[in-house]
Amino acid sequence: RPRYSGLIDKYRDRLPIADDARVISLGEGNTPLIRLNNIPRDLGCDVELYVKFEGLNPTGSFKDRGMTMAVTQAVNAGSEAIICASTGNTSASAAAYAARAGIRCFVLIPDGKIAMGKLAQAIMHGSEVLQIEGNFDDGMRIVKQMSEHAPVTIVNSINPYRLQGQKTAAFEIVEELERAPDFHCLPVGNAGNITAHWIGYCECSGSRDGKLTDACAFCDGNCRYASNTVGGRPRMVGYQAAGANPFLRGEMVDEPETVATAIRIGHPQSWQQAWAASKESDGWFDQCDDTEILAAQRLLADREGIFCEPASATSVAGAMRDIGTGKIPAGSTVVCTLTGHGLKDPDVAIRQAGDAISKVPAELEAVRKAILDRI
Ligand code: F0G
Repeated sequence: RPRYSGLIDKYRDRLPIADDARVISLGEGNTPLIRLNNIPRDLGCDVELYVKFEGLNPTGSFKDRGMTMAVTQAVNAGSEAIICASTGNTSASAAAYAARAGIRCFVLIPDGKIAMGKLAQAIMHGSEVLQIEGNFDDGMRIVKQMSEHAPVTIVNSINPYRLQGQKTAAFEIVEELERAPDFHCLPVGNAGNITAHWIGYCECSGSRDGKLTDACAFCDGNCRYASNTVGGRPRMVGYQAAGANPFLRGEMVDEPETVATAIRIGHPQSWQQAWAASKESDGWFDQCDDTEILAAQRLLADREGIFCEPASATSVAGAMRDIGTGKIPAGSTVVCTLTGHGLKDPDVAIRQAGDAISKVPAELEAVRKAILDRI
C-alpha cells in the first residue's frame, strides 16, 4: 500500500464519503507548493509568492481532486455512466476516472478551441467525445438537462462532490504554511474552484458555513487549526481573461473569447457562490488580457522552470500586477493556483516560443559555433 494513496484516504474525516465506499483514486492531490524566487526578485518586491502546482495531478489539472470524489460517489450510488461539458480538463479527468472505475463517460466539448493534449486524453481514456457546434456554455446547458433524459451522472462542478474534493487544496496549503496565506489568487472560469477553496479555508478556520467560530470544525478545538480563526482565511482574488470576464462586467458574457481556452466561459455556474467567496473574504475580481496571460506563462517557464497552461498563468499575471501597484501589499504571503500543466496545450506554447529554435548542420563545428555565439 503506497504511503500516499489519494486525497479521499487522507482527508476522509472531512469528506462526505461513506466508510465502506469503494474509492476511485489515481493518487491525486499532495501537489507541491513552490516558492517563486526569480520573479519576485525581478519585480523587486518583498512578497512571499507561492504557486500551488495543480498541473502535477494525475491527469495534469486540479480537476482530479473533484473527480475522485464525484466518480467515487457516482459508482457507489450505482451509476454506470457519467457526463460533463468541458473546455478540456474536466473531460480529461472524467475520462480517466471513468476508465479506472470501469464505467462509461460522455464528454461534450466545444467546436474547436480545445487544447490538443486534453483531447488526446479524453480519446485515449476511452470516453465518448461529442463535439458540439457551440461553446462550453452551450454544452453546460445541454448537460444540465440531460440527467432527466438519460441515465448519466453529471460530473461538472455543479455536482457538489466536485467542490468537496477540490476544497482539499486549501487544506494542503494551510498544512504546508501552517497558516492561511494573506491572498489566494485563482483563474476563474466556471467559478467552481474559487468556491471550493473558500469552503476549504473556512473549514480550516473552524467554520463549515463560511462564518467564523472559535473552534475548529474537525477537532473541537485541539488540532493545529484551532488557533487559526480570525485572520486565518485569505482574501480570495479571482482573475478572468479579458474576453471572458462576466465577474468584471457583473453580467454574463455571450461570446467569450480568449487564448486561454480552459477559461473561455461566459456563463459561470457557481456565480453566486463565487461572489460570496469574494465578498466574505474581502477579495476582488479582475481581468488580464491575452498578452498578459501569455507573458506570465512564458515568465514562469523561463524564469522559474514551471510550465503551466495559459489559463493557469492568469493567476500569476494578475497577482504580479496587483503586487506591482501595492494592492497586494509588501510583506504579504500570496498563493497562486496553477490549475493545469503546460503540456496540455503545446500548440499555444510553440506558437509563442517557436522562434527559439535554430537550424544547425549535424556537425561538431557548426554546433560548437552555435554554442559559442550564444554564450
Ligand atoms: N484553469 C484551468 C486549467 C481550467 O481547466 C479551468 C476550468 C479553470 C482554470 C477555471 O476553473 O471553472 O473552477 O473556475 N476548466 C473547466 C473544464 C471549465 O471544463 O475543464 P473554474
